[in-house]
Amino acid sequence: MQKVLVARPIFPDVIERLKQHFEVDWNDGDVLPADELKRRIADKDGALTAGDIIDASVLSVAPKLRVVSNMAVGYNNFDMAAFNAANVLGTNTPDVLNESTADFGWALMMATARRIAESEHWLRAGKWEKWSYDGFLGSDIHGSTLGVIGMGRIGQALARRARGFSMNVIYHNRSRVAPGIEAELNAQYVSKEELLRRADHVVLVLPYTSESHHTIGAAELALMKPTATLTNIARGGIVDDAALAVALREKRIGAAGLDVFEGEPKVNPALLTVPNVVLTPHIASATEATRRAMANLAADNLIAALGVGPRAGRPPNPINPDVIGKARS
Ligand code: GLV
Repeated sequence: MQKVLVARPIFPDVIERLKQHFEVDWNDGDVLPADELKRRIADKDGALTAGDIIDASVLSVAPKLRVVSNMAVGYNNFDMAAFNAANVLGTNTPDVLNESTADFGWALMMATARRIAESEHWLRAGKWEKWSYDGFLGSDIHGSTLGVIGMGRIGQALARRARGFSMNVIYHNRSRVAPGIEAELNAQYVSKEELLRRADHVVLVLPYTSESHHTIGAAELALMKPTATLTNIARGGIVDDAALAVALREKRIGAAGLDVFEGEPKVNPALLTVPNVVLTPHIASATEATRRAMANLAADNLIAALGVGPRAGRPPNPINPDVIGKARS
């Protein structure tokens, strides 16, 4: 029987599915340190990860490993050059999380614009003694300009929701989306600089790569309106968190909502001390239905890539399909 490592705690019924096909080594505990991950992956044919770093040094200790299935749409934890060099397949879980993640982008943007977390902390601290005309004034969502950076599937789901709030939608992306999609979303393509200058609410939904590192740093924050909000539901590292903390403290932008952080689960301590930021622990896709769909899709990918089950040899979400059928090197 082929052997697989499941590197993280996951729904037990998904482990049962995998056990129908494989001998499963399940880490149902804390995140595996790098040396422990290497020790446990060494004799495996496949692995299921969720953000664990898989690079050339990991692949080199696991000569039989043919597939690593990531339970996430983002796969910046995979060194894809190393996967290609070793003929190891990487897979991810796109699409099933689009709508839940877009819902959460809105929740975080609205909580940020309307100061929901900050005012709730104030109430819990027993500070509410009277109504005041200028208590926790925020900025409007309806009728404002939404700027989406990264108009992929989640960005489009997010922009589609803007119609209900009569928003003006502008976007920036590596390339323009099809004219039919622009028309459906009533979204105008603009340069990053123009978007930052014009948007009342900027939302980041782009993948993390070496090119997108610090897409938003001090220079970009300086272009934004002093009342604007910035919401990051993409990946840590897309925003320079230290520069953002300074901009928030000095009120150079209105507020920020962050679900992802550079070096998470650690959070830049400067962000923890500014009031005008809403911080959540990487939960944009975290609904029961969506996390189950992601876990099952990650299992489908692993099962099919290891040549068993109804889609044997045809995993639904290969990242580097060119390696399928090639001998491990
Ligand atoms: C979550 O961050 C994902 O990439 O799915």
